Amino acid sequence: MKPKLFMTRKIPERGLSRIRENFEVELWPGEAPPSKEEIINRIKDKQALVSLLTDPIDEEVMEAAPGLRIIAQYAVGFDNIDLEAATRKGIYVTNTPGVLTETTADFAVALLFSIARRVVEADKYVRSGKWRVGWHPLMFLGRDVHGKTIGIVGLGRIGSAVARRMKRGFNMRVLYYDVMRRHDLEKELGVEYVDLETLLKESDFVSLHTPLTKDTYHLVGERELRMMKPTAYLINTSRGKVVDQKALYKALKEKWIAGAALDVFEEEPLPPDDPLLTLENVILTPHIASASFDTRSKMAEIVAENLITFKNGKVPPTLVNKDVVKVRKPGF
Ligand code: GLV
Ligand code: GLV
Repeated sequence: MKPKLFMTRKIPERGLSRIRENFEVELWPGEAPPSKEEIINRIKDKQALVSLLTDPIDEEVMEAAPGLRIIAQYAVGFDNIDLEAATRKGIYVTNTPGVLTETTADFAVALLFSIARRVVEADKYVRSGKWRVGWHPLMFLGRDVHGKTIGIVGLGRIGSAVARRMKRGFNMRVLYYDVMRRHDLEKELGVEYVDLETLLKESDFVSLHTPLTKDTYHLVGERELRMMKPTAYLINTSRGKVVDQKALYKALKEKWIAGAALDVFEEEPLPPDDPLLTLENVILTPHIASASFDTRSKMAEIVAENLITFKNGKVPPTLVNKDVVKVRKPGF
């Protein structure tokens, strides 16, 4: 008999079809995420779960499913899952790192250029029929990227991929701050390690690439935003809660900084009455940094690979809670 699996949203066919060959799949039919109650109702008799970053997978959810053995997250970030509880209960948790690194870095760079050169604002201007004077020496002046300083907060896979692009492609000075000093990458990429304060004070662009943890919650708040240059921009493709969004609104409104480009928010979707929506100096995108056809398919393949490897009694390739192997052997 195939193990039973609940999937909280349809994932690309390349992974889904392989999963169906190996599991009895119950697929959440909606576009919108199931509520926690709906997850609990459907997970009760399941041995496996495919979750998204929008799904709260806490201890209560795990307790509702005594037979649950693996949570295969379709995302690199997994702050929606109570990892400690999972490990204690012998539940394997996997994610989809690596395949989305370059795609996400591409998007961070796209946001950076769009805010610095006012691409979105300019597009709205042309569409709304306001472009009446042809070329003008002072129209839509923005700021250069090449040769400036970028500060990367979190030099993991994605942070490094952004650093490489900006150093090699745009001749930028690249500063980074991380809890771990990366001497190897400093050499390889030509990046400089600084403390967070120095990074904020010296960068023309600050780009966030940390996971969300207890330590990175509101890492960038009022104090940090006030350290940034009034000509600097903040780019966030990590998690909304890494930034104190109320403080950021104030910083943008009162022009402590020049602008921000955000793919992630403290609450998603961004509520329709959010004050950020009233500002010109911010670009807002709906959490799409990894959203390329190729990458989303590859993420689905990794989810399938993790699930099938586990089913075959082996440790899944991108296991997150490595200590779980001491609690329970892989397999159903
Ligand atoms: C997207 O934000 C992810 O964590 O994959
Ligand atoms: C995520 O893949 C990271 O380590 O940056």
